[in-house]
Amino acid sequence: MTNVLIATDKPFAPVAVKGIREVVEEAGFELGLLEGYTSKEELLNGVKDADAMIIRSDKADKDVIDAGQNLKIIVRAGAGYDNVDLQAATNKGIVVMNTPGQNSNAVAELALGMMTYYARGFFNGKSGTELMGKTLGIHAYGWVGKNVARIAKGFGMNVYAFDPFIPKEEIEKDDVKWVATVEELYKACQYISLHIPANAQTKGSINHALLSLMPKKGVLVNTARAEVIDEADLLKIFAERDDIAYLSDVAPSNLADFQENYSSRIFCTPKKMGAQTSEANVNAGIAAAKQIVAFLRNGDKTFQVNK
Ligand code: 3PG
Repeated sequence: MTNVLIATDKPFAPVAVKGIREVVEEAGFELGLLEGYTSKEELLNGVKDADAMIIRSDKADKDVIDAGQNLKIIVRAGAGYDNVDLQAATNKGIVVMNTPGQNSNAVAELALGMMTYYARGFFNGKSGTELMGKTLGIHAYGWVGKNVARIAKGFGMNVYAFDPFIPKEEIEKDDVKWVATVEELYKACQYISLHIPANAQTKGSINHALLSLMPKKGVLVNTARAEVIDEADLLKIFAERDDIAYLSDVAPSNLADFQENYSSRIFCTPKKMGAQTSEANVNAGIAAAKQIVAFLRNGDKTFQVNK
């Protein structure tokens, strides 16, 4: 029997698991569930008999890939696949996919939610500020960036975007101001929302030079990845300027330093929760299950990321 394993340290909503099960069982496959595991051993053990695996931010490193002796496909139910060792998978002929766009509205809603929370003084009862009329710079205009733009325009924000991989016309047709350089974006916008992936080019790229361009009362919002921030530089700019704030769904490793000295200018979710909605879990989870069925049955490799 073909085995499909859901291996999620951060479980999907039960309704999503139910939907995945329906897709998998209808195809005549068997579903295994490894949720909320606490050690790598459990994952190594769980993947042993799996032909296909659905993960979230779970680390599919070389050990996991080697342990999956029957593995043919890994689907990251979500956007970023920096948690998968693509080379190790490719070496073993395993196909890796993601499910682009499926959880992007959830992440975008959280980004705007955090901005509102900060603008209103963390709901402390005192007079705050509004988002209407403020400038928002979207750093990378992919699925999440597009959704952030759509919602922010509803708030009446002036939305800008920088993305070297997206044509100017595509950004402008959404009534978003295109800027040619990342420096221009950081200079122009009070709020910056990060949507870049974590890769060799982007890791540590949000650095002092860039952050120091931000206008007065600059707010950096990170629902992307912690690794794209140069954390020492962020701490440095916090020390230099008492107007800068950081709102993040992916807490920095030096969070204690920020909380100790700058608690009124930092907010981090206790656990990454941008994609933690039942809608996003259903969308991404069921898309992953369908992609697995289409691949195992017909060899459909749409959404493969390790080509
Ligand atoms: C993604 O890359 O899709 C998001 O960061 C969500 O990640 P998660 O599935 O671990 O919540």
